[in-house]
Amino acid sequence: MNALSTIQQRAPHLTPRIAVVLGSGWGGLTDHMPAAVQIPYTELDGFPQPTVAGHSATLWLGHIGAQPVAVMSGRKHGYETGAVDGMALPLKVMQQLGCHTLVQTNAAGSVRPDMPPQSLMLISDHLNLPQRSPLVGLTDSERFVNMVDAYDPALKSLAAQTALAQSAILFEGVYAWFLGPQFETPAEIRMAQRLGADAVGMSTVPETILARHLGLRVLALSFITNFGAGMSAENLSHAHTLQQAQEGNAKASALLADIITQLP
Ligand code: HPA
Repeated sequence: MNALSTIQQRAPHLTPRIAVVLGSGWGGLTDHMPAAVQIPYTELDGFPQPTVAGHSATLWLGHIGAQPVAVMSGRKHGYETGAVDGMALPLKVMQQLGCHTLVQTNAAGSVRPDMPPQSLMLISDHLNLPQRSPLVGLTDSERFVNMVDAYDPALKSLAAQTALAQSAILFEGVYAWFLGPQFETPAEIRMAQRLGADAVGMSTVPETILARHLGLRVLALSFITNFGAGMSAENLSHAHTLQQAQEGNAKASALLADIITQLP
């Protein structure tokens, strides 16, 4: 059975409007989904089987407040196989389910001295540094996607207002995508700073491109787990990312849940 039919059979009365992709440090969002239906990706034909510790690979279907949502805990990263279209099918299925908005989350490194670990950053725009696209090979005319305002201005301002109302500090900035899986060199971090980046990470950009191709509105938030390579004495590692992400998890997820309940 295809993934769409499986989902519709398991959650027959739900029409999610908002799709969410959870990255490291955002798993607490599902604490805001009482009575959700959970489907492991292993039961969803064509969904990725992530290989990264800290990504649980489960689709959660339910409500956050009154908002019907489909939350993908776990994503496919370009660094796993070299292919950057690993989320093409799941996002298509989200659109077929009725979603019109994609909310993305990730863990990222800060390249701004004034944005320390544990900060939250609203993504205002991105740099596709690998210059890889999940749309390569498509033949439709919609593949020439307009990337101006890829991160929806109205949704960004709604997120900023929600943070303000909670007295939560929400930075805003440009996310630079590195393919990974190795961390950046200090020279690459200096390059990112000069190119106008505020944060660096290994995800999100391919999904934003896919979502815009599907006509979904995009909102994206980064949880800052570290300063970029060479900016501090800290030793970068995936374990360090996960530990930092764990510490800020509840606070970040509470803000995100609040934002999601207010999305149009
Ligand atoms: N670089 C790339 N990806 C990351 C980082 C980083 O410093 N921190 C968390 N994800």
